[in-house]
Amino acid sequence: MIRGDSVEYELLKKWCDTLPFFEEPKSVTTCEIGVREGLGSQIIMMSLTPRIGKVDYQHYAIDPYNDLEYQHVDGKASWKETGTTPPTYPNSMRDQLVKDFANNPYFKFYNMTDVEYFDIFNLSKTVFDLVLLDGPHTTKDILKESLWFADRSRIGTRIIIDDYWVANYDVIKGALSYWKFEPIEQGKSKVCFERVK
Ligand SMILES: C[S@@+](CC[C@H](N)C(=O)[O-])C[C@H]1O[C@@H](n2cnc3c(N)ncnc32)[C@H](O)[C@@H]1O
Repeated sequence: MIRGDSVEYELLKKWCDTLPFFEEPKSVTTCEIGVREGLGSQIIMMSLTPRIGKVDYQHYAIDPYNDLEYQHVDGKASWKETGTTPPTYPNSMRDQLVKDFANNPYFKFYNMTDVEYFDIFNLSKTVFDLVLLDGPHTTKDILKESLWFADRSRIGTRIIIDDYWVANYDVIKGALSYWKFEPIEQGKSKVCFERVK
């Protein structure tokens, strides 16, 4: 079943519905890092497909599942080290996701981490129009992801960061400003950056 574990999905929908295309796109590409049960990806695709008509469209969904052990936020060890109950992202969740999107022609699933994806597709010429970052929330990870996508963006591209407040927002905002991304709207949980030049 397609579900979300975050908040402010109405903002995500709005930022998809208002994604500006400053030039007629030959193809449109969106992406979510950290997919879980798929609601973020579902909203992105449902908003964009009616807007872009017959233009070639793909949505990349990247997530390793397998209850990956990772540092979730700055200054805290991984779940195993702190002895707290980990959030669960088991492979059974992945298998359900694959079933739920089996008939969606736009959904391309990559069962791997962000860094594995970046390594494999480093030479790809794909330009991204909208990206939702909802995997690890450390400043280092968000910076790495944001800059990889910023380097593969065009004017109007949006980068949306979930739970941005747990990371060092000023550092991320400063780094993205190098690539001419500015925050266009900030919720309590999600923030949307847009490339303005
Ligand atoms: C908070 S959940 C995502 C929630 C989802 N975006 C939603 O709206 O319901 C975090 C997800 O990030 C994934 N994840 C953790 N580390 C990752 C990494 N390095 N690269 C990609 N995904 C990762 C986890 O497996 C988990 O499914």
